[in-house]
Amino acid sequence: MYNNSMEKLHIPVLLSEVLAILDPHPGESYLDLTAGYGGHASKILDVTRQFKDSCLIDRDQFAVEYLKSEFPSEVNIMHSDFYSAVLQLIECGKTFDIILADFGVSSPQLDMDSRGFSYHHDGPLDMRMDRRQELTAEKIVNHSSERELADIFIRYGEEKPGRAKLLAREIVHHRPIKTTKELVDIIISKSKYSKTHPAARIFQALRIAVNGELDEIAQTLPLLPKVLNKGGRLGIITFHSLEDRLVKDYFKEAASYGEESQLRLINKKPIVAEKSELGINPRARSAKLRAARKD
Ligand SMILES: C[S@@+](CC[C@H](N)C(=O)[O-])C[C@H]1O[C@@H](n2cnc3c(N)ncnc32)[C@H](O)[C@@H]1O
Repeated sequence: MYNNSMEKLHIPVLLSEVLAILDPHPGESYLDLTAGYGGHASKILDVTRQFKDSCLIDRDQFAVEYLKSEFPSEVNIMHSDFYSAVLQLIECGKTFDIILADFGVSSPQLDMDSRGFSYHHDGPLDMRMDRRQELTAEKIVNHSSERELADIFIRYGEEKPGRAKLLAREIVHHRPIKTTKELVDIIISKSKYSKTHPAARIFQALRIAVNGELDEIAQTLPLLPKVLNKGGRLGIITFHSLEDRLVKDYFKEAASYGEESQLRLINKKPIVAEKSELGINPRARSAKLRAARKD
């Protein structure tokens, strides 16, 4: 099932590490919370060959259309945020042997100018993963107060308070702002040289705010043991410290009840990419894989 066109669209991160740690076997059921362009899903389903009891979720319509065109029709493909989808699966009494979440954005989301995710491309200030939702980056940038903007930059971009306030003030002064380039130019005009792009933290912050990313993760993690079979494995890939902290704390708590613990950590330290992977896929630079087993 795995084909090269999937790799061209989005190279799955830590693929061999995911396969080693989740250890799929023929007949096992699979739940992918962030299936994207099916890179991980395809490799796992190639081993399990269990289609009718497997489920691929994504909130992005383009990803879902792609998944529907590439995977066997027996696979349940859900166009939904993963919190709502998991609630639905619990309601239907569905459970799985393997669960994977690979948070963040896909390469096609970053590469399409019209999605507005990237500070390297000019496009509308959109940043919605699910284009059915009303809140866009444009609404946040143009309708939040200066204080609200600074708060978003500090909380979700981990921007220093002084710089967050300076940028918020400058943004409010230049409103209305319609495009990613206009926003990037404003940020650059107030930035000194740095190794990372000066707009990186602001774009991360806006993206998290638009998509409610951290709330989705925090609400969904405690539900996952309910959809994981005994002996099942759960793997989670994060891309920045805010996501990783939520996962690390949740795993620690879930594993800390002795006999009654729901999950047991498979790897104490997060797995990161080998140098060889970084050469092919720079997105893997900040990826961390944590995994747990339900006993
Ligand atoms: C890094 S990509 C996943 C790539 C995938 N593992 C692969 O190999 O192709 C992340 C995907 O998760 C989706 N996503 C992010 N947050 C989501 C959420 N809360 N609910 C559903 N999908 C989400 C994004 O739309 C994106 O397609």
